[in-house]
Amino acid sequence: MSSSNPVVLVTGGARGIGFACCQSFFNAGFDIAVTDMDGDVAQVSARELDPTGERTFAVELNVASTESVNGAFAKVGEHFGRIDVLVNNAGNFRQAPSATYTDEDWEYVTGVHLDGTFRCSRAAYPFLKESQQGAIVSISSIMARIGLPKRLSYVVSKSGIEALTRVLAVEWALDGIRVNAVAPGFTHTRSHDELLGKGLTTNEKLLDAIPIKRLADPMEIGNVVQFLASPTASYITGQTLIVDGGASIDIRI
Ligand SMILES: NC(=O)c1ccc[n+]([C@@H]2O[C@H](COP(=O)([O-])OP(=O)(O)OC[C@H]3O[C@@H](n4cnc5c(N)ncnc54)[C@H](O)[C@@H]3O)[C@@H](O)[C@H]2O)c1
Repeated sequence: MSSSNPVVLVTGGARGIGFACCQSFFNAGFDIAVTDMDGDVAQVSARELDPTGERTFAVELNVASTESVNGAFAKVGEHFGRIDVLVNNAGNFRQAPSATYTDEDWEYVTGVHLDGTFRCSRAAYPFLKESQQGAIVSISSIMARIGLPKRLSYVVSKSGIEALTRVLAVEWALDGIRVNAVAPGFTHTRSHDELLGKGLTTNEKLLDAIPIKRLADPMEIGNVVQFLASPTASYITGQTLIVDGGASIDIRI
């Protein structure tokens, strides 16, 4: 039995931008596969979205493992009978000088952002091909285009996600699958709080760099992700939409 509603699978969906994506798709009438490497928080978040449990399904999914990805997609396929949209959102972070970055530091970040986006897109393909509205939206970052020091693997991964977006958009266009990305600016989530907590930057510095003078609320990202996956965006593919309150166009001299 297939769900009568379209189904979205969100990676890293338990918190932050991923959870905001789940909320936005839920409001748009989708059934939601809330997936996260933290399966317990995914359960709690899924229940928060729909206390009846009818329109949500929580699954543990670690994007850094092909076995975990394929197993979780099979479970979601079995539960809802379809997957129409994939949101590649799961993310982590490690900051260190490039010259002393270890292989493990490099793989810790690329294995989630870049490899994870590839793995999940590959696992989603057979489902999206069956859908009449197949779409992928991956979360990049404004940092994909900036030579941000000490975040080499993050910046390279996010640039790679934008390249992957273009290649898959062309390759899968005839299968009716649109592939896009969203590049958020500074967004108020747990990872932002951690950045401030570690003293890596200050709120004042960040606000100074944003013309709109405030951080994004996660829903301001989630709603754009949902828009790109919706029929309203039916002629948009292969693009990365920057959602940053103007931060990336504000160079002060
Ligand atoms: N917050 C920002 O300012 C900002 C800006 C630009 C881009 N982004 C991107 O947005 C995405 C979400 O970031 P956030 O700020 O909401 O982070 P967050 O830390 O609040 O949430 C990330 C979620 O991903 C999950 N996760 C981590 N590793 C995983 C893995 N291997 N497999 C599955 N799930 C995993 C975590 O458990 C967590 O629930 C990331 O890709 C991040 O790079 C964030």
